[in-house]
Amino acid sequence: MGHVTSAAAIGADGVLTEGFATAEAAAAHGQVELRYAYGPGLLPGGEGPLALWRYLDLLPLAPGPVRYPLAVGGTPLLAPPALRRELGLPDLWLKDETRGPSGSNKDRATAVVLEMALRAGAGTVTCASTGNVAVSLAVGAAASGLRAVVFVPAAVAAGKLVPMLAAGAEVVKVAAGYPTAFRLSRQAAAAFGWVDRNTGVNAATVEAKKTVAFEIWEQLGGRMPDAVVAPVGDGVTLYALGKGFRELAACGAAGRLPRVIGVQAAGCQPVVQAWREGVPVGAVAGQTLADGIAVGAPVSGGAALHEIRASGGACVAVADAQLLDAIALLARRAGVLAEPAGAAAMAGVAQARAEGLLTAAETVVALVTGTGLKTPQYLPAQGSVVEIEGRLEELPA
Ligand SMILES: Cc1ncc(COP(=O)(O)O)c(C=O)c1O
Repeated sequence: MGHVTSAAAIGADGVLTEGFATAEAAAAHGQVELRYAYGPGLLPGGEGPLALWRYLDLLPLAPGPVRYPLAVGGTPLLAPPALRRELGLPDLWLKDETRGPSGSNKDRATAVVLEMALRAGAGTVTCASTGNVAVSLAVGAAASGLRAVVFVPAAVAAGKLVPMLAAGAEVVKVAAGYPTAFRLSRQAAAAFGWVDRNTGVNAATVEAKKTVAFEIWEQLGGRMPDAVVAPVGDGVTLYALGKGFRELAACGAAGRLPRVIGVQAAGCQPVVQAWREGVPVGAVAGQTLADGIAVGAPVSGGAALHEIRASGGACVAVADAQLLDAIALLARRAGVLAEPAGAAAMAGVAQARAEGLLTAAETVVALVTGTGLKTPQYLPAQGSVVEIEGRLEELPA
C-alpha cells in the first residue's frame, strides 16, 4: 500500500512549499502534493498486466482487494509510422488515453476516488465538469452501484450529456458556467456528506492521473522520454504527469526528467500567459471550441506552472483551427479518434516543433486525452462515399 509520509503545497505562483504533516494543513496553501517514502523498492514495474492498480504502492490506498469493477489504465503507447513521417519526429509516441471505460483520461481519477468511496461505504459522489469528468463519474458510479450528482455548464455538449444520462447520473445544468458549477458541487459535498471527486481539490485525482507517467516509463522499457506534451484545462493532467516522472526519479529511475510541455487554446490561455510573463496564474475570460480546456480560472494552474518550470519545459497556445487540424491528423495518420481537447497535445507538438522547442532526434510522448466519438461534429470527412445499387461492376477499381 502507499504510505503517505508528508505533504507539500503549490501556490498559484507555481512555488512549491515543503514540509506539511498532513494534506489538510497543506490545502490552505494551494494544490496539495502527497509524498511517499520513495526508494528503489517503490519503483513501478514487475509482473502482471499494465493497469492502474499495479501502482498501489504509490497511491493513497490501504492494502486490500480492489473493489472498483471497471478496467482502468494500461492504455496503449502507440508508435504511429505515418504520423512520425509526416511530422518529421521518428521517435514520437501517442499515449492513447481515449481507451478508458468512458473514453478519457478522467477514468483514472474516477477509479481511485470511487475505490476509496466503496471502501468507505459512501452512497453519493459528486463532481463539476466541463463534460468528460462527469461522463467518467457517471459511468464509474453506475458500475459501482453509487449515486452520481454531476454539475455541468448549461452549454454542455450533447455528446457528453447523453452518456451521463445513459449511465443514470443526476445532472445539474448550471447557467452561470463551470466555475459556479465547481463551487456548487463542492458546497453540496460538504453540506450533504457526498464524496467530492472534484479535480485537483481531491488529491487522489492527482495521484491517480500520475500513473500515466509510470506506464509511459514502463512502456518505453524503463527509459525517460525527452519531452512529454499534455493539454491544460484545470491543470491536473499535466501536473500529475510531471509529478509521476518526479516520483520515478525519486525512486531511483535513471535519466533526466522529461521536459513537460503544456498546451492551451489560444482563446483561453491563463497558464501560457502566466508562464510567459512570470506571474501567478490568474483568471481570464476566454473561449475555445475545446470544452475540456475552456477553463479561464484553472483550479491547479499553479501546479501545472510548477511542472513546466521545474522540468525546463514550456507552454504553447494553439488556435482552434490547429486543434481541428490535429484531430484530422490523428484520425488520418494514426487511426486515433480524438475530441478537440484530446487532440490539443498533438496540436501542441506541431506548434512546439515550429517554435523550436522540440528536435527531430528526441523521444516525445503526446497524450491523447479524450475520444472523438463523443464529439462527432469535429471529425472531418477525409474518406469518400460511393452510392451503389449493389453490383460488383459498380465498384471503383
Ligand atoms: C479530453 C480532455 N483533455 C484535457 C482536459 C484537461 O485536463 P485538466 O483539466 O486536468 O487540465 C480535459 C478536461 O476536461 C479533457 O476533457
